[in-house]
Amino acid sequence: MNKTMGKQEMLTAPFVHEMMEATYNMWGVGWDERNGGNISYLLKEEEVTPYLDPHHVLRTLEFDFPVQALANHYFIVTGSGKYFKNVKSNPEENLGVIRVNNTGTAIDVLWGFSDGGKPTSELPAHFLSHIVRLEQDENHRIIIHNHATNILAMTFTHGLNEKSFTKTLWQMCTECIVVFPDGVGILPWMVPGTNLIGEKTAEKMSKTRLVIWPHHGIFGAGTTMDETFGLIETAEKAAQIYTIISSHQGGVKQVITDQQLADLAEAFGVIPVEGILEV
Ligand code: 13P
Ligand code: ZN
Repeated sequence: MNKTMGKQEMLTAPFVHEMMEATYNMWGVGWDERNGGNISYLLKEEEVTPYLDPHHVLRTLEFDFPVQALANHYFIVTGSGKYFKNVKSNPEENLGVIRVNNTGTAIDVLWGFSDGGKPTSELPAHFLSHIVRLEQDENHRIIIHNHATNILAMTFTHGLNEKSFTKTLWQMCTECIVVFPDGVGILPWMVPGTNLIGEKTAEKMSKTRLVIWPHHGIFGAGTTMDETFGLIETAEKAAQIYTIISSHQGGVKQVITDQQLADLAEAFGVIPVEGILEV
């Protein structure tokens, strides 16, 4: 808890509440069993300073994937090994506010991780993805990773070609092509929590805001918590429809055609990633 004179109570900060709500909601829909999933939220200095003294550093943690582009940036992130279910009842233990140092080689913990914890083990994927998303859009402040159930299931039952996976998702719900016209990126199966999976995730993130880790989960990037949650939710819903209809005895009787998908894109003013629709 921040005890600096003249500062507002940290637990009243809107960004802390957004983290509490998002983690609880994701746990509630079953995407974050045990400690599964992690969130990082880029904060503006003026959002943080009403609650924290930026000179009051609790701990400094070094890391081995320099992120010079994020020097002096503030984030609130979920802790490694922490359960999304528990964030709401104990945010100070399960979350942390951190600032990258000015060489991009360490983080200062300014609040949270009160039991001596540290940021998510997927920090390389989060930080490196933030860098590439900020290059695309300076308003992209959220990276969410979770174990969305039906996306994960679909990585067993559907081929892992990005174009065909994207097309199947688009075909499952009318809104999909509008919500993620850039489609999904898919990595090969990799060991999580490494710098390498972080680099590969970020490479995909330069082209799309959704990156699937087969048999593991999904990464989403966006402007706000709601919008990024909604992005993953939309892909997950499509994957759920796919799973339902795949096991339907009677098979699929009709589909959304490529022409209809193209009409949707035109009507909503989005440009679908090339090489998928045949019209
Ligand atoms: P953390 O508990 O370190 O965030 O890891 C959870 C996870 O989902 C790993 O991919
Ligand atoms: Zn995971």
